[in-house]
Amino acid sequence: MAVVTGARGDIGHAVAHALSERGAEVWCVDIRPPESAAETGMRWVELDITDADAVERFFERVRDETGPADLLVNAAGGPGRIRTPIDEVTDEVWQRVLTLNLTGTFNCCRAAVRQLKRTGKTGSIVNISSGAGRTYSRTGVQAYAAAKAGVIGLTRQLARELGPMDIRVNCVAPGLIVSDGTREELGRLTEEDLRAHLDGVALRRLGEAHDLISPVLFFLNPASGYVTGQTVSADGGSIMLG
Ligand SMILES: NC(=O)c1ccc[n+]([C@@H]2O[C@H](COP(=O)([O-])OP(=O)(O)OC[C@H]3O[C@@H](n4cnc5c(N)ncnc54)[C@H](O)[C@@H]3O)[C@@H](O)[C@H]2O)c1
Repeated sequence: MAVVTGARGDIGHAVAHALSERGAEVWCVDIRPPESAAETGMRWVELDITDADAVERFFERVRDETGPADLLVNAAGGPGRIRTPIDEVTDEVWQRVLTLNLTGTFNCCRAAVRQLKRTGKTGSIVNISSGAGRTYSRTGVQAYAAAKAGVIGLTRQLARELGPMDIRVNCVAPGLIVSDGTREELGRLTEEDLRAHLDGVALRRLGEAHDLISPVLFFLNPASGYVTGQTVSADGGSIMLG
C-alpha cells in the first residue's frame, strides 16, 4: 500500500501515477486535492501534513481500510516566498517553512512507522529534499535550505533506527524542476538568467516532474533492498556529490 503526499503537485502527481500504473494501490494526500479526484483511480485525502493528529488519524485509517502504508513518498513541501534577506524574515515565515518541509515529513514518517511496527510489516520511505538541502537555496530561502538539509539528516537517522525492522529510508534531492511551485519564478527569468542556470547543469536542460519517477521508484523497489540512508540528486548533474 502506497501513500504519496503532495500528490496534487507536479512531482507527487508524477510519482503517484507511476506507482498506480505499475499496479500499486495509492493513497494520494494533499492539502488541496483535485476536484476530479474520483477520475484518477486513486484514493484522495485532503490532509494538512503539519497537523500531527490528523496525520496519525490518516495513517490509522489507511491501516484499517487497506493495510498499513509500506511505501511512503513525502513530496509535500515548498519554499514559500523567495529572496527575503535574513533580517526581514519573520518568525512566522521561518516556522511555517520549517514546519511544512521538515516537521510535516517527520509527522508522516512517524505515523507510517507506528502502523508498520504495530503490524510487523517492513517498508520503504522516500523523502523529497532539494538541492537547497545539499548546498544552499538558489532563491535565498533560509528556512527552506535548513529544512531540506534537515530532511536529509532525518532520512539518515531513521534509516539507522529502522534498519533492524527492514524499514528502509532514502531521499531524493531534485534540482530545479518545472512545477506549479517554480513556474512563476521560471517565468520571471531573463534569457541570460536561464542560460546562467543551465550552464551549471551538466545535462543543459531544466528538470521535469517525470525525471523524479525513476529515482523514487528505485528506492521504493525491493530490488534496492540493501540500500538505505541514501540521498540521490536528480538535478541533471548540477551538484555531483560523490
Ligand atoms: N520543483 C522544484 O524545482 C523542486 C526542487 C527541489 C525540491 N522540490 C521539492 O519537491 C517536492 C514537490 O514539489 P513540486 O515541485 O511538485 O511542488 P508543487 O508546488 O507542485 O507541489 C507541492 C504540493 O504540496 C502540497 N502541500 C503544500 N502544503 C501542504 C500541506 N501542509 N499538507 C499537504 N500537502 C501540502 C501542495 O498543495 C502541492 O500540491 C517539494 O517537497 C519541494 O520542496 C521541488
